[in-house]
Formats: sequence, structure tokens, C-alpha cells
Amino acid sequence: MRRPLVAGNWKMNGSRASVQTLLSGILSGIEDVSRCEVAVCPPFLYIPQAQSMLTGSPVAWGGQNLSTEAAGAFTGEIAASMLLDFGCTYVIVGHSERRSLYGEDDALVARKFAVARDSGLKPILCLGETLEEREQGVTESVVARQLDAVIEAVGVEGLGAGVIAYEPVWAIGTGRTATPEQAQEVHAFIRERIAAQNEQVAQDLRILYGGSMKPGNAGDLMAKPDIDGGLIGGASLVADDFLGICRAAQESVA
Ligand code: 13P
Repeated sequence: MRRPLVAGNWKMNGSRASVQTLLSGILSGIEDVSRCEVAVCPPFLYIPQAQSMLTGSPVAWGGQNLSTEAAGAFTGEIAASMLLDFGCTYVIVGHSERRSLYGEDDALVARKFAVARDSGLKPILCLGETLEEREQGVTESVVARQLDAVIEAVGVEGLGAGVIAYEPVWAIGTGRTATPEQAQEVHAFIRERIAAQNEQVAQDLRILYGGSMKPGNAGDLMAKPDIDGGLIGGASLVADDFLGICRAAQESVA
């Protein structure tokens, strides 16, 4: 049985004051999360604040990116060891914004996944097609290419150390969610592709959906057999919305 994960990707949002308000709201409203996992990924600077507020709570935390390097002359970068030093469990790799705005290609994303996994972080690997690619009918080949790059780097068992997030680029921040059927189709494709190499890894691996997930659509998405939680952008910045999605995850497990 896979345990759903609800992870908030705050992207480049927040201030010390808003982080305090948001995490206090989450902590005071969080109910039974015995059947799911919950995490937030703040901007790097707010990770110490998250650590001090969330230690001992059911909410884990992580980074949104990491360097492929261990230490040294890499101005502006953050190493895996630094994330671990501040108690991070997770790190997002290959988010579409990093791929499209910062030129991260499949090979770099695969190296980041490998470094995260080797250091003991759980990488959340983002995959997804653009609107143009969906309209051209190449969704599966794009997602397969992104996935295969990581399997090539770490092996299929290595992939099993992380989590996958299917995030159709056209659904991110647009309010246009993939339908549960559209998402399920790609999630099943991803799982089958992994199963062709290792059935056990495929059955155990969590595949999250990301892209305009809200409390109102989370339940229907997570009811699908291959959707094991969500990677949440906008709605993770509003405590009540994030809590509503956590509730849907908890209820999605019988
Ligand atoms: P939204 O939930 O704002 O669409 O963002 C999704 C996302 O990119 C999470 O990584």
C-alpha cells in the first residue's frame, strides 16, 4: 500500500512574517494524517524557520532545488549536505520552471536526482509535457524521455528512493487542472514503464499529481488508482487550502 504524500512547493514566495502565519495555520489546523505524509518546500532562506517550527510535528520539509556539487567555488548554489544540515527530508528536482527558465536539461536533472539520493535526501522528480507537446500527441514520449534519463543515471532501484510528480506544464498556475482521467492515464503510463523494468519498484513508488490541485479537485484526483498525492503550488500558500488537500489525501486511503 502506497502512503500518499502532499508536498507544498512554495516557489519564490514568502517572508519571515508570512512563513510564521502559514506554518502556524497549518500546525493548528492539521488533523489526522496517520495514513498520509505531508511536507513543505520553502525557499532556502526560510528552511531554518520551517525546521524550528515543524520539528516534532507531522509535517516534513525540503528544498526546491540543489547543486550537483558537494562544496566549493559554486557561487549561489546550495549543496545536499546543507539541506540535510537543516533537517530536510525531500528535495524537488527537475521542476518545469527550472527546466524551462534555468535551462536544466534531462541529464542535469538526472545528476541532481543521483546526488540527492546518494546523500540521503528523497528527491521529488518532476515530469511533464507542455501544452504544445500535448497537442502534438507526444505527451508519453516526453515523459518517457524525462523518466528514462533518471533511470539511466541511477537504475530503476535508484529511482525507487524518490517520488515522482507528474506536472503537466499547461496545468501549472493556470487554474486549468488535468481531469482525473487525463492525469490517471499518464500516471499509469509512468508506472507501467517502470514496471517493465521492476514490478516491485513500480508498485511501491509514489506518483504525485501537480498542476492547479485545490481542495475541490484533490479528492477526485487522488481517488484514481495511480495518483498517490499532490505537489501543490498556489494552494500550498493558504493554510486552509493546503489542509483541505491533506484531508483529501488522508481520506483517499480506505
Ligand atoms: P500550482 O498548484 O500553483 O498549479 O503549481 C503546481 C506546481 O508547479 C507545484 O510544483
